[in-house]
Amino acid sequence: MSTLRSFVIAGAALLAALPASAQGAQQQRTLPDGEGKVIVQSVCASCHGINSIFGSAGYDEAGWRDVFGSMIALPDTQGGVLAAYLARNFPPVPARRATLAQGNWKVKFTEWIAPTLGQRVRDPLEARDGAIWWTGMFASLVGRRDPVTSVMREFKLPEGSRPHGIAEDTAGNIWFTGNGNGTVGRVDPRNGDVKVYKTKARDPHTPLIHPNGNLYFTAQGARMFGRLNPKTGELTEVPTPSANPYGLRIDSKGTMWIAFNGPALDRPGGQPVQGAMIASVDPVTMAFRVYPLPDPATQARRLAIDSHDIVWFVNSSQGRLGRLDPKTGVVKEWPTPSGPTSHPYAIEILDDVIWFNESSRRPDVLVRFDPKTEGFQSFPVPSGVGIIRNMSKTRDGKLIIHQSSSNRFGLVEIQPPKVL
Ligand code: HEC
Repeated sequence: MSTLRSFVIAGAALLAALPASAQGAQQQRTLPDGEGKVIVQSVCASCHGINSIFGSAGYDEAGWRDVFGSMIALPDTQGGVLAAYLARNFPPVPARRATLAQGNWKVKFTEWIAPTLGQRVRDPLEARDGAIWWTGMFASLVGRRDPVTSVMREFKLPEGSRPHGIAEDTAGNIWFTGNGNGTVGRVDPRNGDVKVYKTKARDPHTPLIHPNGNLYFTAQGARMFGRLNPKTGELTEVPTPSANPYGLRIDSKGTMWIAFNGPALDRPGGQPVQGAMIASVDPVTMAFRVYPLPDPATQARRLAIDSHDIVWFVNSSQGRLGRLDPKTGVVKEWPTPSGPTSHPYAIEILDDVIWFNESSRRPDVLVRFDPKTEGFQSFPVPSGVGIIRNMSKTRDGKLIIHQSSSNRFGLVEIQPPKVL
């Protein structure tokens, strides 16, 4: 099978170099012959194209049925033919497995599948009433799981919104970033009414509701940072000091922090880009303060802040976990258990212990890092097809995770080692 794999990888590299029009034809030619080929072409390419299959971790028949069963409901016979075809041509790729760091903590995962299949579940959070909300990017919806009845309800957003993240305001409204159509908006959970604000930025990304009542958001491709005053509708958008402003968090003083997902390229004719960095931003003046990161190849997707206002970030491009002390500007990094290609992505902090995932691994792995011992421990996600793009926490100390491909969101209960 290694011959097929290397052929496929070479094919994928070639594809990337071709113009889009040529890519369609090329993609169809590279699918191996067999009964399942037509099914892949007709039903699997609608949401994401067949490169997702070439780039996948590979599965046996049962595994493939699980994987695409969370994306599309196929008649049983067709599903069987397809699973056999995929298992034959795309068997498991051992290289995608994680290097698991061992330890004596335990976790309990509980996952739920969202009603609309293939919606690209992401960025779940707990609302004040204990409900869990998520966004379904591909289906332009936000969903809510009731904490008492467990009933899930999906709220349709305007066509093309492709919501990225969500945040809750003090009145219990859910705000979303319309990554696909340059909007931010608000859903009223009582009746599903949606109010939309058009942004200058084409791709609002990660939202945050500040204690001052404003909505703030990063816009990755547009390289902007925005603020909406929901009372007046006033929208302020400013260019950011570096490329791909991505994760956004707030510290105990109300200062916001942005992780830049680089790479730090110059933008022709635009604001010069300063490089790999984390930046803080003042909620009133919208002024940035830059904290350069030592390795210029760093792409920091997301960050989280501990109880001492220390900023922790994932160095996604280099496979490292980072720590920035804002008082001194000193940065320290640790290699993740699965190493340089692990692509750490989401990050959250519970009781000053750091949690992140190794998003390139299958199954996707949740990793615990204790800053006191500098020790890691890995926990594969049960549905594990990938991936956690953003994590949050409940008020009672559980992590809230999700998997974009397996269409699931869930809770992680953390159980300390028993002291004998
Ligand atoms: C309704 C939309 C939809 C359809 C149709 C669909 N998928 Fe997917 N698929 C998704 C989403 C969403 C993801 C996650 C993409 C992401 O997070 O970037 C995904 C990801 C994948 C992945 C990558 C998994 C990984 O390891 O990250 C594979 C493999 C895949 N799909 C296979 C299939 C196959 C095979 C079919 C046809 C039977 C199919 N998909 C049809 C929505 C769909």
